[in-house]
Amino acid sequence: MTRGNQSHITEFLLLGLSSDPKQQVWLFASFLVMYLVNVGGNSVIIAAIQGDVRLHTPMYFFLSNLSFVDICFTNVIVPRMLANMQSKSKKVPFTQCLMQMYFFVACAITDSFLLAAMALDRYVAICHPLRYTTTMNPRCCLQLVTVSWLVSHLHSLTHTILMARLSFCGPNIIHHFFCDVQPLLMLSCSDTSLNELLAFTEGSFVIMSPFIFITVSYVYITRAVLRVPSGRGRYKVFSTCGSHLTVVALYYGTAISVYIHPSSTYSVTKDRVVTVIYTVVIPMLNPFIYSLRNRDMKQALRKLARRKEQNKH
Ligand SMILES: *[C@@H]1O[C@H](CO)[C@@H](O)[C@H](O)[C@H]1NC(C)=O
Repeated sequence: MTRGNQSHITEFLLLGLSSDPKQQVWLFASFLVMYLVNVGGNSVIIAAIQGDVRLHTPMYFFLSNLSFVDICFTNVIVPRMLANMQSKSKKVPFTQCLMQMYFFVACAITDSFLLAAMALDRYVAICHPLRYTTTMNPRCCLQLVTVSWLVSHLHSLTHTILMARLSFCGPNIIHHFFCDVQPLLMLSCSDTSLNELLAFTEGSFVIMSPFIFITVSYVYITRAVLRVPSGRGRYKVFSTCGSHLTVVALYYGTAISVYIHPSSTYSVTKDRVVTVIYTVVIPMLNPFIYSLRNRDMKQALRKLARRKEQNKH
């Protein structure tokens, strides 16, 4: 990996979001709060779903998996970022940088595949309700979840291996708050065309295929919903998709604006803002989006709270 004199750099400097000490304090506090809300909110969602048999359905299993991935996601990014804000040196060893990149990419892609699995679930539930229980059986759900993890980790592994063979001869300053693929590629002094090609082809494919799948599912869902005669019936059917659609829109809106463009127009400043939104803010919002307008989820939360109360006495 760091063979001979080919690559002189064994660590990077992560400059983070800001170097202004006044802003640092403010940023540190807000990211700490977002981190705690994120881990807390998503853990509560997982506990509520596990603890209520009425929520032992494919939709909620996928949601619980999504919360799990969001917790991993935030743990990959935020603690390091907070520690970095406090430290003077801001150094990150090369291998840790690669590991962070690996888990970041893996979590991001798993998220999108889980959103696709949830779209499939809604599609079967709305367009083929009679076949729902046989199609979305526990085995099928487990397979969907396993495939999501496998594909994302293979994808991530490929990018990490390709990154590890590059040499870095300096400068080693990353104007970002974590080791993302593009900022690292920009620092390399070897030929990165293979990495770029792969990011643009296979990367776009892995990001876009769940998106296209979700879009097609929703075209069918909309068609089925429009065939429901009464307005109230339509609302009822569609309301089960509301939270999912909101998350999909947030996730893909930001992901596409960062990652789908030629590398020449890449701007680290814009990228930083958008990646904050989708690595920190959206995973934090997920639990709220899913629990605020959802009666089953609210009941499960109440049940969880009552159990906590009883345990205390
Ligand atoms: C993820 O989904 C699988 C399959 O539906 C389920 O058995 C498992 O409990 C879920 N895991 C989490 C952490 O929610």
